[in-house]
Amino acid sequence: MPLEVIVLAAGLGKRMRSDTPKVLHRLAGRPLLAHVLEAARSLKARRTLVVYGHGGEAVRSAFNRAPVRWVEQAERLGTGHALAQALPQVAPGSDVLVLSGDVPLARAQTLRRLADAAGKGLAILTSERSEPTGYGRVVRDARGRVRRIVEEKDASAKERRIREWYCGFLAAKAKPLADWLAKVKRDNAQKEYYLTDVIGIAAAAGATVSAVKVSDPWEVAGVNSKGELAALEREWQRREAARLLESGVTLADPARLDVRGTLECGRDVSIDVNCVFEGRVALGDGVRIGPNCVLRNVSVAAGSEVHAFSQLEDAEVGSRCRIGPYARLRPGASLADEVHIGNFVEVKASRLGAGSKANHLSYIGDSEVGERVNIGAGTITCNYDGAQKHRTVIEDDCFIGSDATLVAPVRIARGSYIGAGSTISEDTPPGQLTVARAKQVSLPSWKPPRKR
Ligand code: UD1
Ligand code: CA
Repeated sequence: MPLEVIVLAAGLGKRMRSDTPKVLHRLAGRPLLAHVLEAARSLKARRTLVVYGHGGEAVRSAFNRAPVRWVEQAERLGTGHALAQALPQVAPGSDVLVLSGDVPLARAQTLRRLADAAGKGLAILTSERSEPTGYGRVVRDARGRVRRIVEEKDASAKERRIREWYCGFLAAKAKPLADWLAKVKRDNAQKEYYLTDVIGIAAAAGATVSAVKVSDPWEVAGVNSKGELAALEREWQRREAARLLESGVTLADPARLDVRGTLECGRDVSIDVNCVFEGRVALGDGVRIGPNCVLRNVSVAAGSEVHAFSQLEDAEVGSRCRIGPYARLRPGASLADEVHIGNFVEVKASRLGAGSKANHLSYIGDSEVGERVNIGAGTITCNYDGAQKHRTVIEDDCFIGSDATLVAPVRIARGSYIGAGSTISEDTPPGQLTVARAKQVSLPSWKPPRKR
């Protein structure tokens, strides 16, 4: 039977104390809902339906390319009511897996296990802990069969002592699930339609209710507050660091590393403290990253070093390069092998050929720089005339003196030398020294002023 996944994501998330819908809060750089949808996707479900409500347009637009069907829950009347909005859109014969949008770390294989356990009855995901405060408790009979779930607010003192709790995920066939759901009422402490009432209704009707138990508490941890979100983030980062260490990466401190995306490392990579990796980052063999660096969507080839406090975004770095300290590579920066970019140098939408260097205090934007070019301290490519961006071309083996300003569009021909302090607004001939600054004069008759 085809599997259909329904994600409940319309809740208010009051305890987050935020104007952002709960499922858009980020874990490891991605919205909570993205984690849930990724797990759902790996199940190869026929369709995924997302029930949205609070801040709905923001949620939809954040996921406008996701292959999901959106179902609006206009009034938030509880989890049972949320499911009732989506279930009529599902073919009666399908298998249905109901997920919570605020439980981000469930593994696909656990969800698969849950879907498989439903059979003709109902399967719920449960876990145990000594004090499952705030969660629905799983009530079993003397023979250990699941009879119902009682929400904490409706539970007796004895029921509150039950250690087994419901993790918010269940699976069943669409048709019986719809029949049970139709019987759910609002006569409870919160005056809500509890999806969890379905368990008691199914059990009373003689259906088999299986519990799939999860022992890893993080896998089923929900996010209801900023504290829980921060705890999950730390756990995610702890695992990421453990994975990197396991693969041979040297981390100065596994507790001071943040990976918000995918970080792939070659052999003998070392990463100092407080580095942040976002999007897709690939570090080649022997790459060393200094402390306090931020790399987002970057590849760094073998043997390169990125020194402290550098920020690299949407950039490519060749092998044996030296970047920083305090360097900034902006989108479209592409460095060939053995390029040096030093302190307070910014490179944007520019390519630098092998062996070229800009070691201090420069801006290189919209430029094509050849090989073995030396760019002196304080050099600026003036790429913007107030309306348009223009390109600067610096051919191989040029030497740009300190504090030169290159007014684009301009071409510095192969082997040119540019005198320090020059303002270059016209193309230069190859192999010559070009100086464009006022001639130096000294006045032999000059006398220093005297006090009267
Ligand atoms: C729910 C369960 C509880 C379980 C816990 C596990 C119910 C009644 N209780 O409680 O037994 O232990 O999850 O995490 O189901 N939602 C909607 N529309 C609504 C209300 C909620 O879409 O009207 C969505 C929320 O966005 C969330 C999910 O349903 O993703 C769970 O809702 P939440 O309010 O967080 O339920 P809990 O109190 O955590
Ligand atoms: Ca919850």
